[in-house]
Amino acid sequence: MSAFKENFLWGGAVAANQCEGAWKEGGKGISVPDVDWHNPNLNRAGKRDEDSEMTSARLEELLQIQDDDQFPKRKGIDFYHTYKEDLKLMHELGLKCFRTSINWARIFPNGDDAEPNEEGLKFYDDLIDTIVGYGMEPIITLFHYELPLNLVTKYNGWQDRRVINFFTRFCKVCFERYHSKVKYWILINQINLIYVEAFNSLGMLCDKVENLEEAKYQCIHHQFVACSKATAVAREIDPNMQMGVMISDHNCYAETAKPEDVFYTYQKNQMSQMFYTDVRIRGEYPGYALRFFKDNNFNIEMTDEDLELIKNHTADFMAFSYYYSRLNSYEKNNKGLNDISKNPLLKASIWGWSIDPLGLRNSLNLYYDRYLIPMMIAENGLGALDELTENNEVHDEYRVDYLREHIKAMEEAVKDGVDLFAYCPWGPFDIVSCTTNEMSKRYGFVYVDINDDGTGTGNRYKKDSFKWYQNVIATNGDVL
Ligand code: BG6
Repeated sequence: MSAFKENFLWGGAVAANQCEGAWKEGGKGISVPDVDWHNPNLNRAGKRDEDSEMTSARLEELLQIQDDDQFPKRKGIDFYHTYKEDLKLMHELGLKCFRTSINWARIFPNGDDAEPNEEGLKFYDDLIDTIVGYGMEPIITLFHYELPLNLVTKYNGWQDRRVINFFTRFCKVCFERYHSKVKYWILINQINLIYVEAFNSLGMLCDKVENLEEAKYQCIHHQFVACSKATAVAREIDPNMQMGVMISDHNCYAETAKPEDVFYTYQKNQMSQMFYTDVRIRGEYPGYALRFFKDNNFNIEMTDEDLELIKNHTADFMAFSYYYSRLNSYEKNNKGLNDISKNPLLKASIWGWSIDPLGLRNSLNLYYDRYLIPMMIAENGLGALDELTENNEVHDEYRVDYLREHIKAMEEAVKDGVDLFAYCPWGPFDIVSCTTNEMSKRYGFVYVDINDDGTGTGNRYKKDSFKWYQNVIATNGDVL
């Protein structure tokens, strides 16, 4: 007998900016991922640790490059035109839910427009109807790094308080239009990734602020207020809608059993992960965060009204992405918040992401014990260099191995008592990588024949893992 609930949502997750392409169609404005450049000489392992901050000069340079092929997210996998066939395949796979985002710049091309772009809404009307038509529960992310670029150049992204109301207005339009079809909403993708996805997630140019670290937390405060405001609006429109807070979980283990390593690793996990969910679920700034601001002389501007909003409009469920775990120590923690290392006891992917299924069980227990609210795995999976054979097959047993062990760990967590209601492996069909902008970092059950330089037929082929996941879903979790 499966430990998963009878109506467990087996799904798949993508983001608009990594698959839709059509970056200038349907009245869409330019958004942050459209200037995400592909480095053909990229250093794969360790890429995630590189600086992800943007300067005005670099942005200017990128905007001068005319060649779209250097910006793979501009074309994605052309999902904007192929979604009907792609979703048909997802239906054949048996998905019970499908997570995607609504690209803010399709609805408000400049972010601060007075009226939404009806053509953009029409696209999502049909996309959501297609998902629902195939019997899949839509899970919609409202901000998956898709900040309209105008909000960067004119307001310096989330640093400016006015962006709170622009985001709330965008959310309101989506809630009003889709509340009867979409129950689950993730307001901000991986709200905690301000060190590795700084520009993507905050839209801030670092040369425009005096104290970068402080400014990041100011942006985050604005995101917290925006999420609370959006939640308040959602409750008024339709209280059946469920609002999720999402983080990227990369929980750190202590390098040794030395009490200093254990404590400072815990502290690291507090500020890089739990801080965000504590605020959004418990409704207040935790003491350790206020102390962190004080110790660092950060002056984060927050009004009483902000704190009231944060308190009264908290999240209904917690979602997190899980790819890997990390290590930390007293020494590392005191050298810098992002100075963490790989675990020599674990195997890793080509991109250096350690493979740790038990870590998923650990995190599910950790968060559920802390919050006692429903949990969703919003992303999980193995990025790999797949090979398409002459017969158009892909033998991806490494992907099956990875997913099998993670699903088993998840099932154990459910037996431990965790209220888990959904699991969405990342990129059920291959899409452009978020961090490296490659096509060759593939996660899918469906191979999409597009290369890093944009060449390829665009054809879709089922990989061996397709049949395997199809059976997992049909049996409610039998991983064989
Ligand atoms: C998450 C993001 O961080 O990881 C996704 O929400 C992303 O957008 C995923 O694609 C995997 O990262 P990558 O770089 O392998 O695509």
